[in-house]
This record gives sequence, structure tokens and C-alpha cells, in this order.
Amino acid sequence: MRYRRREAGVDGGVRLVMESALSARDRVGVQDFLLLENPNSEAAFIENLRRRYREGLIYTYIGSVLVSVNPYRELEIYSKQNMERHRGVNFYEISPHIFALADNSYRALRTERRDQCILISGESGAGKTESSKKILQYYTHICPTRNNTQTIRERLLQSNPVLEAFGNAKTLRNDNSSRFGKYMDIQFDYKGAPIGGHILNYLLEKSRVAHQNHGERNFHIFYQLLEGGDDPLLKRLGLEKTNPQHYHYLVKGNCPRVSSISDKNGWKVVSNAFTIIGFNEEEIQGLMEIVASVLHLGNTQFGEDEEGETHITTEPQLRYLSQLLGVDGSVLKEALTHKKIVAKGEEMISPLSLEQALSARDSLAKAIYGGAFAWLVQKLNQSLAFKDEVHYSSKCSSVIGLLDIYGFEVFQHNSFEQFCINYCNEKLQQLFIELTLKGEQEEYEAQGIVWERVEYFNNKIICDLVEEKHKGIIAILDEECLRPGDASDITFLEKLEDTLGNHAHFVTHKMANGKVRKAMGREEFRLAHYAGEVNYNVNGFLDTNNDLLYRHLKEVICQSRNHTVSQCFHSEKLMDQRRPETAATQFKLSLAKLMEILMSKEPSYVRCIKPNDAKQPGRFDEVLVRHQVKYLGLMENLRVRRAGFAYRRNYEAFLERYKSLCPDTWPNWHGKQSEGVAILVKHLNYKPEEYKLGRSKIFIRFPRTLFVTEDALEAQKQTIAVTVQKSWRGYRERAKYHRIRSAVIAIQSWWRGVKGRRKAKHRRQAADTIRKFIKGFILRNEPRCPDNEYFLDHVRYSFLMKVRRNLPKSVLDKSWPRPPPSLTDASELIHRLCIRNLVNDYCRKIHSEWKKQLEQKVVASAIFRGQKECYPRSVPKLFVTTRLETEEINLKVLQTLGNDNKVKYGVAVIKYDRHGFRARPRQLLLTTSAAVLVQEAKVKQRIDYSTLLGISVSSLSDGFFVLHVPTADSKQKGDLVLQCDHVIEAVTKLAIMADKIHNVNISQDSIRFAIARGKEGVIHFTCGQELSVMKTKNGHLSVTTPQIS
Ligand SMILES: Nc1ncnc2c1ncn2[C@@H]1O[C@H](COP(=O)(O)OP(=O)(O)OP(=O)(O)O)[C@@H](O)[C@H]1O
Ligand SMILES: [Mg+2]
Repeated sequence: MRYRRREAGVDGGVRLVMESALSARDRVGVQDFLLLENPNSEAAFIENLRRRYREGLIYTYIGSVLVSVNPYRELEIYSKQNMERHRGVNFYEISPHIFALADNSYRALRTERRDQCILISGESGAGKTESSKKILQYYTHICPTRNNTQTIRERLLQSNPVLEAFGNAKTLRNDNSSRFGKYMDIQFDYKGAPIGGHILNYLLEKSRVAHQNHGERNFHIFYQLLEGGDDPLLKRLGLEKTNPQHYHYLVKGNCPRVSSISDKNGWKVVSNAFTIIGFNEEEIQGLMEIVASVLHLGNTQFGEDEEGETHITTEPQLRYLSQLLGVDGSVLKEALTHKKIVAKGEEMISPLSLEQALSARDSLAKAIYGGAFAWLVQKLNQSLAFKDEVHYSSKCSSVIGLLDIYGFEVFQHNSFEQFCINYCNEKLQQLFIELTLKGEQEEYEAQGIVWERVEYFNNKIICDLVEEKHKGIIAILDEECLRPGDASDITFLEKLEDTLGNHAHFVTHKMANGKVRKAMGREEFRLAHYAGEVNYNVNGFLDTNNDLLYRHLKEVICQSRNHTVSQCFHSEKLMDQRRPETAATQFKLSLAKLMEILMSKEPSYVRCIKPNDAKQPGRFDEVLVRHQVKYLGLMENLRVRRAGFAYRRNYEAFLERYKSLCPDTWPNWHGKQSEGVAILVKHLNYKPEEYKLGRSKIFIRFPRTLFVTEDALEAQKQTIAVTVQKSWRGYRERAKYHRIRSAVIAIQSWWRGVKGRRKAKHRRQAADTIRKFIKGFILRNEPRCPDNEYFLDHVRYSFLMKVRRNLPKSVLDKSWPRPPPSLTDASELIHRLCIRNLVNDYCRKIHSEWKKQLEQKVVASAIFRGQKECYPRSVPKLFVTTRLETEEINLKVLQTLGNDNKVKYGVAVIKYDRHGFRARPRQLLLTTSAAVLVQEAKVKQRIDYSTLLGISVSSLSDGFFVLHVPTADSKQKGDLVLQCDHVIEAVTKLAIMADKIHNVNISQDSIRFAIARGKEGVIHFTCGQELSVMKTKNGHLSVTTPQIS
């Protein structure tokens, strides 16, 4: 901040002291008139202006009002860097500048979202248009850009050269004087980017088209076209690139060329602007055709024939006109020399006098130029209009209005237009007074602020003089225009004298005293304006006010084939029989509307001062400046400002904006607004001299106080933003959480429902099953029926599954699940099947040797199982093929037996003699046909299988066996008593070979055997401790065998 320190001022007020950083040049005089030591001294005021002006410091503040003095030279203070320096910087932190004011409005627009307007006032040539251009340049440079706003920026900037070419002209006061009023709205989006614009134009000084005062020029475009237009274009338009002297309308002021103006360059700028704004070739062509036709109209001459009839003497001009305006030549010719009168419902044509024809010609020129200007503004507005309105409500945008209207002017000859221009300036001054002097002072009083009134001149009296209903000059002018009979400009003047004769600000030649009378013409009236006295010549007042264009000419123009002309003149308007509003009334109404627009916005003021009449740089004409300071009310403005307050807001708005700066008022203050504001300012440490609390508003004396508060708010916004963000994010996340939670609950409940239903279904099914099961169980022994089929199936299934799980693993495995009663048969069948399968399997797997073994074992089993005590022991022992190898048998024996009697099995045995029971070791050989007992090489006994009667063994575990032979057989010695360690094996093999399986006797206690024919022996078998064989006394053999446990 460049201003920070304060110090007690001369008047006990507080003065801001600039930092030493400011250059000495910047410190010339005071930058704000509020700092003047004597606010009542006009001389000090002007001296300050002069001193600063001399240093090229053209800007000085009166509080927030910017006073600008025209430098009449290019200053290097409008560069882009300078614009950057002003961006976002507080008004008072930097030396006074138009950019600072523009930035202030822009920031107010952005921070408070209130529409703004910048009112630029001052007399003609004071620099209003230049100021408005600088402001526009500033905005188009510093504002942020939206995607498509680049074009809008360009168009906003380029609308100026176009409007200036058609609406500005060189006057005695200003080489580029605005001859129309312009109010331009610049539209910004919520981010502060310019997005569109709209122009309102006010009363173009059309009379200039046909007439210019001495030393003045027509509108720039005429000269620009002639100087800059290329040859083919000019040829097409029938114009010559020669001296503008050739065109009557351009030489009325006798000043076609001005050194300060480059028309050629102007043409280039305008042509370029047309392209940027988006005019197409046809439109530019149509516009230029109108401009050219005005020049041709100016050169159209009339003559009178012998009968006194007016005719056109310049046929080539007529041809060009008909071609350019797209109307029939003869029709135009007639319309320029005749007028249509409707009398008693009949249309009649009456010739015009030479004077009337000239006037009709000029009227036509003015009308088509005026129409073209209105069309141009309309086109500009179309081009600047914000196109995206569908997606972007106009509520989201704010505007800054720029008012650059023609300045107060006094000429030698002042006509109707000057009257309107000066009236307009009166209205603006009135607005300024209303808002800054009257309104402000009244407000202080109304708010109960102790206030010493500052007297000022209120120009309301002059405004009323011009615009008052029935009694005002405009009302009287309209009355004269509408009055039937021979009303003229002179009768109008007389009427003014009659009505306003006594008004302090009005005087005519007739009513004036000698001195004044000398300075006035007979056809003039004088108005004492706020800015000075002006004599208006009433000549042409009525015609201009009527905006007279003969109906005949209007009809012709409306039929134009020229596209642009036809757009400028609508036939509906022509057909409208109602009398249009007069020019003065239209102007008055449009000004009233303008005032409404301006009042609805927050105003900022630029008061332009013209330092000299000679348009020279560096010249400071004190008299001229003092006059302007006076009539602009700058001294009063200063006094009110100095004693008053720079800023005011009603409590509600103030509290709403700054409540976040005080914990007591944040976020809401529920008490009385005024108390809230009092607490807030106390918290903000406002000094008593810095503010006053009124009835409903707070008044802040220095802008600095507000800026400091604004800075604090800016800093606080970060915190608020974080809080808002936090709350919003919290809210968002909570909402998200709730959404998710309800979704989860929904899913959960749905899923639980599904699960519950499934479970219920299962339970139901389970209950059904159990029920069926129980019922089935009860009826399990009944024949199969629907009530027990489930149970039976289940039992069957369970049993089968059990069987499957417990199938016997081998043929010896006799285990088998116990079947339920209903499946006994089936179980039996399956068991058998299963066993058969196992057996099958088993059988398939055994080889021949083993088979033989088994067959023998089966035979052994058939014979001995359960009969002989030592049998079980023999079961696991395999039967061998033979117990005697061939080598163990005597060769002789083998030879004796011969090849037919091959030994199949041999075993060592003990043979007991039939008499004495002597034990003798022998070999028992089983051949294919006989059992042979051998003692070494001797065959001791041979028993053919066919003769073998039987075999006897005991039931005990001894190894005795007896081979029974027939006693009658002489070859046989008797039964053979043998003992063998492998009795089961030997007996089995013998039984098989001899086919005596069924002839094996197993005796319990004793075996009887034949010793010889008729003589029997007995062997007794008993169980004892150990094996013993002995002959008993009675001649029997006793065998004791140990019992197998
Ligand atoms: N800030 C400035 N810097 C340089 N020259 C300036 C400045 N302001 C005004 N001028 C000069 O003064 C001339 C007149 O200024 P401008 O056209 O803005 O006056 P005006 O107030 O609009 O007058 P009018 O009411 O006639 O339109 C400009 O053409 C320009 O030469
Ligand atoms: Mg201007």
C-alpha cells in the first residue's frame, strides 16, 4: 500500500500522506483535492490543476470523482504495463488515473455484483470520448477471457472507429467531436469476462449532413471514403477521388481538409473495423451507397423553367441516385420536385418551389443518413449481443455502462441540435447534482448526521425551463409544430416570449436590455445554461423538430431495391397514420429513460476539463478552466466531499458484507442491525472520526478505511471459503454416505429377504421331508405307496450308499451291512453278486499252479475240515508238488515203475509193521496209477489205485494214516499203516489221484485195519502230553498225541 500513514490535517481532519516512493513529479500539488488546505479557495483549486497539468499530470481526484484535463498530446500513461499496474489495486494506492477509476468500478461490480456506470461529462473537446475509449481499452485488456470473448473484446473496441466515422465530425471546438450521444453497456459474466455489449445512441446531429458552420466539416466518413476508397469502389459509386471541394455538402464549412485528421488512415481503420465486427461485403457496399447518394444529393441542382416550375438540372446525379438508392429515376425526379397532398381523401400532386425542392433534397439527405446511422448501431448491437443467453441467464451477468455524450457547446450560430445537446448536458449536470450534492446532503440530514449545508447552484430550474409540461420550451415548440395554420419559427419565438418572458434564465432580443440586445440576433433566444449563456437561432427549429420529409419522398425511399436502404426505412412506419413524436419530444423521452438507466446503477464520475480553446498542448487558460470548474460544480463537490463521507451503506447491506470480520456478527446477527454494525465497527477498530452511524446507514469518511476493511474481507474470504468448502464437502460426503448407506441397507434387506426366504423354503422343505420321513417310517413295512415311498427310497439310497462305502474288499471278507427289512432280498442278491464279482475277479487273477493248489486245498477241506484236529494248522501251509526230488528216489525204483508209472508225488513216511508195529522209514511214491512203498531200491508194496479200498486217519493231530487194501488179493500183504509229517497233504493227494475222496475215514478213537485175511489190528488214538507210539499189551498200537490248543 502506498498510502498508510495518517497525520492530523490543518482543519483537524485526517490527511493521507504519500509514501516517499512516489516520484517527485507525482507529488506535484495534491493528488486529491480533498487534501487542499483551503477547500473554499477556487484559486488554490485551479492552481493545483495548473501545476499538475504543467507536469503532464492530467488526473486529480475529488474523493472518488476523477477530474481530467485534456492534455492535447499523447501521454505515455496508457501503456499495457500501466494497465497491469492498476489491475486490482485500490483506488488510493496509486496516483490518480482513469484506469484506477475503471478498475474501481470493475471491482465493485465483481465483489458486490452491482451494476456500475461511469459518467463522463465536460464540454465539447474536453476529452470525454478519449476517456471512454481508454476505459474500454482497459477492460478489454485486464478482464479475464472466456473461450469466445476474444471476438467480443475486439468488436467492443472496433465499434468505436465505426461509430466515430459516421457520428463524429470536426467542429470549431473539437476536431473529433461526437455529434451523437452514446451510452454503451459492457456486459460481464460472473467471472468478470466481457461477454457482450449494447449501444444506445441519442439524437444524431443530422443537420450537419446538409450544412456546416464555417470552419467545420461534415461527418468523417464522407472524407474518408473519398480519400481512402479504392478507384473501382469510387467508380461504382460515381464518386471522384478528387478534392472534396467538388461536393457541395462537404464545403459548407469551407474546411474540407484538416491537418490533424488523416482521412486516408481513417478509412483503413474503419474498413478493418467493419471486417472485425462482422459486416459482410454486401452490407458495407450498401452503406457506402448511402454515403455516396448523400453526396450526389448534395450535388443535385434545381432550376426553374419559364413557367416557374422547378426541375432538376443535374441529370448524371439523378442517374447515380436512382442506381445507388435502387429507385426508379423518374419517380425520384418527380418526388424531388413535387409533393403529394391528400385533400378530401384524394391524392394530388403539387409542384415544389425551388426553395422547397432544395429543402426536400436536404431533408432526404438527412433522412437517409440518419436512417443509415440507426441501422449501423442496430448492426453493431447484433454483433455485440451476447449469443449464449440460452445457457447463461442474463441474471448471472452484470454491466458497466459508459456514457459519452456530446459536450456542452456554444457556437456563433446555435441551432436546434445545439439546443438539444446543451439540454442533454443540463440533464447530466442535474443527475450529478442529484447524486453528489443534493442527494448526498439531504441524505446526511435525513440520517441525522450533523451537517453544515454547502450551497450550490441547482440547474433544475433550467431543466424545467426546457422540459416542463405545457410551459417548457419543448412543449411550446411541439405546440407550434402541431398547430394548424401558418406556424413558423418566428411565431414559435413569439410564443416563447409570451410564455417564458419572465424566466430568469430566458431572454430574447425583444426582451433584452440594451447590452444584451446588441449581442443577440432578432431571431434568437438566449438560455442561461449552467455552463454559460447560449443564443439559439430559431431558424429551422420547427422543420427539424418535425423531422420533415415529404411523404412522397418517403414512399419512394421505402420502395428502394437497395437492401440496406430498405432496412433503414420500413414501409410499416410510413403507413402508420399516427403522427410520430417530434424530434425534441423523442429526445426528451430518451433522456428520461437514460436518467433512469443511470440512476439504477452505481455511478462513478469523470469530469473532463478543456484547458484551452485552441486545442494546444501545455496551454492552461485560467479563465476558461475557472469557468468550467464553476459550472461543473467542482468546488461544491469538493466541499461536500471534504465534509462528507466517501462511502455509505445501509446497515443491512454493510453487515451482510462484512459480518464475517467479527466473531459476534458471524455467521448471523440476530439483534438490531444498527447494533450489529456498531459492534462490527468497534471490532474493526474504526476511529470515531472515521465513521458515523446514521438512522439506517453507516457513513465512512475515508475510502482508505473502507479499503482496509475490504482487504481484511479479502483475507477473511480465504477462511470463509475453506469453511464453506469444508461444510460443502462435509455435506456432500454426508449425502454420499447416506446414499451409500441406504443403498447398502436396501441391498442388505433385499439379500436378507432372499436369504430368509431361502431358509424358510429350506425349512419348509426340511419339515416336509421330516414329515414324509416320519410318515414313511411309520408305514415302512407297508407296500410302497406315496406316503412311504420317500422313506423307502431314502432307506434304499442310504443302504446302497452304505453298501458302496463298505463293500467287501476280498473274497474272504464276509462283512456286509445289515439291510433294512424291506431290502433283505435285494441285499442278499447284491451280496451274492458282489461276492461273485470278487470271486470272479479273484479267479481271473489266479494262475494254474495256484489253482491246482487250491483245488487240492478244497479237497483237503472237504475231507478234513472239522474232522481232524491238525487240519486247521495245515491250511496256511501250501501243498508242495513233491516232498522227494527225483534224485532222492532210487533210480532202480524208477526204472521198476517204468515210464507209464511216473512218480507224481513222493514223501518220506514211517511204516509200522502190521505185527509188532515196528517203525520203518520208507518212501511213499504216488504214481499215476498206484501208491508205492519203497525201501531204497526195493519196491516193498504197490497198491493200485483201483484196488485201494479206503484211507483211514484219526481225528487227532497225529500223522497216522492207513491204506486199506482187499485182504483177498494175494498180491497184497494187508493194510498199510503209515505215519507222515505231512499227513493232510499226502492223504489229500492220494485221495485225489486214487479218486478216493469219499473213501477217507476219519475215526475218533481208533482205526481198525486188516493184518491179514481174517485178522484185524487196532490203533488207538488218545490225547496226551506228548507224542508216543507204543504197542499195548493186547497187541494194539496206542498213539498218544498232544492236543493242539
Ligand atoms: N487523454 C488524452 N490524451 C491525449 N489527447 C487527448 C486526451 N483527451 C482528449 N484528447 C485530445 O482532445 C481531443 C478531443 O477529445 P474528445 O474527442 O474526447 O472530446 P469530447 O469531450 O468527446 O468532445 P465532444 O463533446 O465534442 O465529443 C481528442 O481528439 C484528442 O486529440
Ligand atoms: Mg466526444
